Amino acid sequence: MIKPLALKNKLFPTNLIQGPLAGVSTAPFRRLTWRYSQPAFSCTEMISCKTILHQSKQLLERFVKKDPQEGPVCFQLSSNHPLELAEATKRVTDYGADLIDLNCGCPVKKIRSKGAGSSLLSQPSKLSQLICAMKQNTSVPISIKIRVDGGSDEKYNQEIAKVVSDAGADFLIVHGRHWTEHYETPCRYDEIRFFVEQLTIPVIGNGDVACVDSLKKMLATGCAGVMIGRAGVGQPWLIKKLMADIKQEPFSIPSMKEIGLIFMEHATQLADLLGNEKFAILQMRKLAKYYGRGLKNRMEFCAAVNSCENLNQLKYIVETINEDKDYAIQQTRSSWHSP
Ligand SMILES: Cc1cc2nc3c(=O)[nH]c(=O)nc-3n(C[C@H](O)[C@H](O)[C@H](O)COP(=O)(O)O)c2cc1C
Repeated sequence: MIKPLALKNKLFPTNLIQGPLAGVSTAPFRRLTWRYSQPAFSCTEMISCKTILHQSKQLLERFVKKDPQEGPVCFQLSSNHPLELAEATKRVTDYGADLIDLNCGCPVKKIRSKGAGSSLLSQPSKLSQLICAMKQNTSVPISIKIRVDGGSDEKYNQEIAKVVSDAGADFLIVHGRHWTEHYETPCRYDEIRFFVEQLTIPVIGNGDVACVDSLKKMLATGCAGVMIGRAGVGQPWLIKKLMADIKQEPFSIPSMKEIGLIFMEHATQLADLLGNEKFAILQMRKLAKYYGRGLKNRMEFCAAVNSCENLNQLKYIVETINEDKDYAIQQTRSSWHSP
């Protein structure tokens, strides 16, 4: 059921959440999500505690900047050191974190080799210390975001449920895949249900939710809330649409022209945030395929965005999107100087 979500001392009017996506979940993305969907909260990208503690303020901006026009934000940290995590927890609380999550699901080798991300799932006593370190250094709700054991040899679900509960996390986010599994493997709803049944704290289910049917499947696990990941990219209205769909209320999605403007706003704000148009364009190139979902000639649109090097060029492309769901100009690098 879509309903209010109580997490420790906070009550959110809905239980749908926009999850963390590295390379995407910066303030401009979250601000758009808030404007079009008002989720319970959105998450930052995963931020290494070392970055929080040692990076220059300018480099840190990308990760910790909160926009006055966005809603509640969950800062997601990555660490394997309780002392470091304790200090980073204090800092992000000062930066305005509304909630704080520890990443315990990242499958990337570089993160696992440092004993962080999903490798924490096989270090229960370290995980317990990390949860305590967060809890003792902030008053905001704290969580960990895990992957399930997926019937692998690791078999850690039972133990993790106990650690989470004993160490006093305020809620748990469960992505229903093992850390070795790719997105082709379907989400394991039964293992999300396992955590729901084992724990008294709220469990947020995550994995493959993109439409009202997949949302219903996730809600059927009994989870207190649902986290949307990839599907929220390029359609910041998705969560609002899901809320309408589940109540069988009408919802009209923005026109392709409006979507072009949203894409452009995302790009412009990202350039502001990063203080660098080129870096923003590089990030927007990766997002073109999501924003261009509804275009008949999405591949051409992506190719054009890929070839553009500044915001003016991007604007030129976006302005050619028409209501026939067509991106009108077969743009090439050499034609940038045409009118
Ligand atoms: C590009 C990308 C970046 C991601 N970055 C993070 C991250 O920084 N932290 C995290 O906990 N999960 C991250 N995830 C995982 C998602 O938050 C989510 O758990 C996963 O995609 C499953 O949800 P979905 O099926 O709704 O996308 C990332 C996933 C993708 C595709």
